[in-house]
Amino acid sequence: NSLNTKYKAKGKQYWGTCGDQGTLSQSQCAQVVKDDFGALTPENSLKWDATCVVFLYMVSYVPLLMQPGVHWVSSIGDKNTLTTVIQNHATTLVTRYKGKIAKWDVVNEMFNEDGSVRSSVFSNVLGTTFVDIAFNAARAADGSAKLYINDYNLDSVNSKVNGLVNLVNQKKSAGVPIDGIGSQAHLSAGQTGGFLAALQKLASTSVTEVAVTELDIVNAASNDYLAISNACLQVPKCVGITSWGVSDKDSWRASSNPLLFNGSFQPKPAYTALINSL
Ligand code: G3I
Repeated sequence: NSLNTKYKAKGKQYWGTCGDQGTLSQSQCAQVVKDDFGALTPENSLKWDATCVVFLYMVSYVPLLMQPGVHWVSSIGDKNTLTTVIQNHATTLVTRYKGKIAKWDVVNEMFNEDGSVRSSVFSNVLGTTFVDIAFNAARAADGSAKLYINDYNLDSVNSKVNGLVNLVNQKKSAGVPIDGIGSQAHLSAGQTGGFLAALQKLASTSVTEVAVTELDIVNAASNDYLAISNACLQVPKCVGITSWGVSDKDSWRASSNPLLFNGSFQPKPAYTALINSL
């Protein structure tokens, strides 16, 4: 009766986690992943710089279009060249993992906090049509994988949520194949009160699913984890939750103990509270 098993019994698809070779090669980590989690997002290994192709990520959900972090892409100034580079990256990665990756994070972190579009090589050269280009290429490469737009600080109904919702509505009505919206949920203790309303707002668009894609909570109390678990349970379109790592010691926020297992891979009180609530 693992976390994943119990979450599925409540009607959700999965409770997942993230990992890469560095974390999964620890036998205790691999054991917890097998015992408790039902989906795996590559934490870094499908990013542009790691694949040296061009741009995507998600097994539960994998990043496709993030800031490239590779100079040869960020220095492209020509529309046609950049379009081809995005298409090649999306086509290559989505084709390579066709049938193996269920959901892709096609466009990651494209918004500023005020809801405007973040400056990047993609938006600077192509405006928001980079979104169309990436989603269309990903869909052409794998007609079955769910294609997501993903961002952080979507934790209350704020300007960023509104900007994302407006863009998704506009792109969906123009026929861009966006299936899902991911809310990363890198939270802090006591910051979970507005999460349900925000998730409902994301689900009010015509996407078929939403998900909590990178959950961790700085100095989390059990109640904060319960709030996020319950928010997803209360939103029919919410398909699942991905914890952003297994053990606190391997977290990108390791000093703030944000995950469900401690540095010795033992379950923490928030884990027990979740299990008891499900
Ligand atoms: O693998 C190298 C290692 O060889 C080297 O010795 C070491 C020295 O710094 O760096 C290692 O790479 C690090 C990598 O994580 C693997 O641990 C990078 O420096 C470090 O920048 C990288 O951080 C990742 C971060 O994204 C930046 O890409 C985190 O693991 C990852 O959890 C984090 O995840 C992001 C999501 O992609 C998007 N949403 C926010 C989230 C948190 O920032």
